[in-house]
Amino acid sequence: MSNNLIIAIDGFSGVGKGTLAKALADKLSLPYLDTGLLYRAVGRKMLDAGLSVKSNEVVQIAEQLTQQDWNRNDLRTPEVDKVASQVAAQPKVRAALLDMQRHFATQQGVVMDGRDIGTVIFPNANVKLFVIASPRVRAERRWLQYTANPNDPVKEEQIKQIELELTQRDEADASRAVAPLRPAEDAHIIDTDYLSANEVLVRALEIIQR
Ligand code: DC
Repeated sequence: MSNNLIIAIDGFSGVGKGTLAKALADKLSLPYLDTGLLYRAVGRKMLDAGLSVKSNEVVQIAEQLTQQDWNRNDLRTPEVDKVASQVAAQPKVRAALLDMQRHFATQQGVVMDGRDIGTVIFPNANVKLFVIASPRVRAERRWLQYTANPNDPVKEEQIKQIELELTQRDEADASRAVAPLRPAEDAHIIDTDYLSANEVLVRALEIIQR
């Protein structure tokens, strides 16, 4: 398989695209980039600097982003979830991060996941996957990641709350004016509701090898 293989994976948060992307990158010995981390890192730096996400500095911060910024450990908090989504809705920020994402693939190809990889970043990707899962299944998975007690009596309540929050974020991601989340016309849809992580990987590899 060519070294410069570009695999674009898009989908809403919590559908399992990160798990799939990492496994594919591993299997195919390709670099991996989770582009959600770029928007998270910009949001995090705005918070750290005490700046509103709407202030002009946001573009400069996006332009100067380094790998060190998006490898930080404090990018997956509810606070950052919120600012990242506001940062990602700004066309100037998306433009500032575009070349960086394309450049990432030039040496050895890439497995890249996000919302607009198959539509905007790599419209000519070798393979485009669009991963879906129902809100209920996504909320259950997320809950399992965070809970210390799988038999927690408030489990149902918590799952319903997560489901509500993620459908609200879906709505924001899909309805924004710039790079709204949608499958590219030539994307292969993978529904992960009834599949294990390994079954999802096997299906993706079948698509890639075709
Ligand atoms: O996938 P995630 O939850 O880490 O993404 C964080 C935010 O960034 C989320 O609001 C969606 C947005 N995002 C985007 O607009 N485009 C991408 N390619 C990746 C993420």
